[in-house]
Amino acid sequence: MKHIVFDADRSVLKLLDQRLLPEQEKWFECHKLEDVIFALQQMVIRGAPAIGITAAYGCCILLKEVQCHRDWKSKLEQGLKILSQARPTAVNLSWAVKKMQDRMKDVEVSPKELYEIWAKDALEIHRQDIEMNKKMGRLGADLLDDKDVVMTHCNAGALATGGYGTALGVIRAAIEQGKQITVIANETRPFLQGARLTAYELQKDDIPVKVACDNACAFLMKNQLVNKVIVGADRIVANGDVANKIGTYGVAILAREHNIPFYVAAPFSTIDIGLSKGEDIPIEERCPQEVTHIENKQITPQGVEVFNYAFDITPANLISAIITEKKVFYFPYDFKINS
Ligand code: MRU
Repeated sequence: MKHIVFDADRSVLKLLDQRLLPEQEKWFECHKLEDVIFALQQMVIRGAPAIGITAAYGCCILLKEVQCHRDWKSKLEQGLKILSQARPTAVNLSWAVKKMQDRMKDVEVSPKELYEIWAKDALEIHRQDIEMNKKMGRLGADLLDDKDVVMTHCNAGALATGGYGTALGVIRAAIEQGKQITVIANETRPFLQGARLTAYELQKDDIPVKVACDNACAFLMKNQLVNKVIVGADRIVANGDVANKIGTYGVAILAREHNIPFYVAAPFSTIDIGLSKGEDIPIEERCPQEVTHIENKQITPQGVEVFNYAFDITPANLISAIITEKKVFYFPYDFKINS
């Protein structure tokens, strides 16, 4: 599924607008840094790897915007700082911006030359993301069995990545191996990534999917209507604690209670070994309207206060395995790779 398209000649980034799915398939165009920041913060595009890819293309757009300034380098630095802070929890955002910034360090180049380097680098980050998803899919697919009913929370599919998906990539790979898999997509209030986006992309691919209210999880597990869980991640820290969409922690506790394996799938770049434990991860708080309103209609009494934490932390001991493109890790987590 193509949902992020960059035209390097015009320096325009086109994003399939995820606020409008599944009803409308409309494209949102980013011409300036301001548009990219809007797209990230308003969730035109979302999902940790997709946020990272968008940020990489965003660097190119910013460079085109500032290239004619006499002090283009300092304007660029200022913009990159704003870009890398657009959303705080997914480490892929700052990871991608840093990767682009590192390319400026050792070479003295003109803005035009840097643009050419960056446009290629951003495309490569995008291409590699799809490749990594497919690799992690192949590794993770061995954990799924024929006739499994797999619950997922939020959307960790093609729409949340460069394409194919992390958690949904594992499911896609298992189906490509000939296994019959049914997916339960938790609706994922308030933005409804599960009900709108996971259901949309799985239905498009003819993968059997049922949407469940978030609060049906315990009942479904108790009644053996689900036998595995697989989710994505926004950040994984050194001890294996995982930040993912709000509600993930509750699903993991319920999975443990009902002896259901709980898997996390994420590219290695989502692992932030700079942080030692989950409590160190910044948790984004989003605007109250996401909770108080459904499609512009207020559902709560006027003026009532709400919680709108966008992510929670699942402790490492509740996670049966962490699937990356390099290998599948098991508790206790140690992400050192001998290669
Ligand atoms: O707020 P969102 O929609 O960006 O949150 C997305 C998630 O929590 C995903 O599960 C996570 O980014 C992994 S996407 C492969």
